[in-house]
Amino acid sequence: MIIAIDGPAGSGKSTIAKKVAEQLEFTFLDTGAMYRMVTLYNLVDSQKLEDEQTIIQSLNKINIKVVKNHFYLNNQLVDKEIRMDKVSRNVSYVAAIKEVRNYLVSLQREIAKNNNCILDGRDIASVVFPNADYKFYLNASITERANRRFKEQDKQSLEEIKQDIKNRDMYDMTRKESPLIKVADAVEIDTSNLSINQVCKLILAEVKK
Ligand code: DC
Repeated sequence: MIIAIDGPAGSGKSTIAKKVAEQLEFTFLDTGAMYRMVTLYNLVDSQKLEDEQTIIQSLNKINIKVVKNHFYLNNQLVDKEIRMDKVSRNVSYVAAIKEVRNYLVSLQREIAKNNNCILDGRDIASVVFPNADYKFYLNASITERANRRFKEQDKQSLEEIKQDIKNRDMYDMTRKESPLIKVADAVEIDTSNLSINQVCKLILAEVKK
């Protein structure tokens, strides 16, 4: 069985998908983390991104492994590194490159192939698994999403975070390759005023229907 969860940054996708996966004893795959790994590998001097051709060629040198929601880039654990600001700020550019998407989408399909799997991302229901058994689109107000990210860190102001999220949403929703969309048959959940448990319950209720 495949459960697809899509939505913008900070809508709660990964937190919720992880919990639901635990309850159902499904494999959980955070596909955003895979785009983050390609980005991390391609940061020159740890700050500036390589050019598009170099990023595409890097796919031959990258080995991505996901083991129980831990992320290994060429056998090095990068759970913390992929969440750094500099990765968050550059990942949308990398995720817009067609060759990167093709490469990661095949990897995602391969990982999910023989498992009951819950995947979260931007294009899971539209591209990766258009025939998923269940499709959810999580959303929340920009203020709430920025607040959530603000509480997770101590480096950026709330306004800066709000602006970063707005930029990323814009980029992810308007790119040519697999933009973030809510497919017609997805169940939309606005998580702005709901607790993590409440959202999990809504999803589990749909799945058990
Ligand atoms: O969910 P996240 O913030 O970790 O995602 C990081 C970036 O990767 C996000 O800006 C959009 C991109 N992404 C994507 O294009 N497709 C996916 N399936 C998952 C993430």
